[in-house]
Amino acid sequence: MPTALILGASRGIGRELARQYLTDGWRVIATARTQEQCDALAAAGMVAYPLDVARAESIAGLGWHLDDEKIDTAWLVAGLYGPRHDGFPSEADFDAVMHTNVLAAMRLLPIVAPLVAQRRGRLAVISSRMGSIGARTASIGTLYRASKAALNSVLKDASIDFGPQGAICAAFHPGWVKTDMGGGEADIEVEESVAGLRATLARLTAADNGSFLNYDGTLIPW
Ligand SMILES: NC(=O)c1ccc[n+]([C@@H]2O[C@H](COP(=O)([O-])OP(=O)(O)OC[C@H]3O[C@@H](n4cnc5c(N)ncnc54)[C@H](OP(=O)(O)O)[C@@H]3O)[C@@H](O)[C@H]2O)c1
Repeated sequence: MPTALILGASRGIGRELARQYLTDGWRVIATARTQEQCDALAAAGMVAYPLDVARAESIAGLGWHLDDEKIDTAWLVAGLYGPRHDGFPSEADFDAVMHTNVLAAMRLLPIVAPLVAQRRGRLAVISSRMGSIGARTASIGTLYRASKAALNSVLKDASIDFGPQGAICAAFHPGWVKTDMGGGEADIEVEESVAGLRATLARLTAADNGSFLNYDGTLIPW
C-alpha cells in the first residue's frame, strides 16, 4: 500500500488531497495544527500528527514521528495569504506569511525529501500562479506573491538536491479554488483541483523534476 504525506490537511485543498488518497486505498499520513483536527483525521482512518509549520519545534517533532517512514508521495499544502491590502506590510504580517509559506518549506523539505527519495517517489508543494514572475500581469497580493516566488525557489533547490537521489519534485498551482482562501467566487471546486493535482503529479517522470505546473499539467513560467 503506497503512503501519502499531506502537510496541512485540516481543511481546503489539503483535506481533499488526504480524502482522495485514502479513498483510493493509500495509507495517508496527515498533519494539522490542533489536537481536535488531528482527532478528526484519525477518525477518518489516517495517521495524524500535529504540525504548526511556522514553529521550528513542531517541525522537529514531526521529523521524529517520520523517522522510519518511507513516503511515496508528499504534498506541502499549508499556506497563508496574509493581508488583503497591498499597503506597507507590517512586520507581523510579513513574518507570518514568509514563515508559513517559505521558512516552513526550507525546514520541511530537507526532512521529507530523503524519505521520498528512498521510494523514488514524488514531492510537491502547493505554490500559486501568483508567485510566477514570468506570467505576472497584476500586482495585487504583493506579499503573498513574493512568498510563493520564494517558495518556488526553495522547491527548485530541493529538485536539484534530491532529484539525483530519486525524488521527482514539482511546484503546483491548484487553480483558483473554492476554499476558505479562494472564496466562493473562485473558478473550480476543490474536488476538481485535487483530482487534477494528483493525476498530474502521478504522471510526472524524472524529466519533469523541478517543474512549475498548473493542476491540469500545463507548464507555468517561473
Ligand atoms: N484556494 C486557491 O484558490 C489557491 C490558489 C493558489 C494557491 N493556493 C494555495 O493552496 C494551499 C491550500 O490553500 P486552501 O485554498 O486549501 O486554503 P485554506 O482553506 O485557507 O487552508 C489553508 C490551510 O493551511 C493551513 N495552515 C496555515 N497556516 C498553517 C500553519 N502555521 N501550520 C499548519 N497549517 C497551516 C491551514 O490550517 P488551519 O486550519 O490550522 O488554519 C489550512 O489547512 C495554500 O498553500 C494556498 O496558498 C490556493
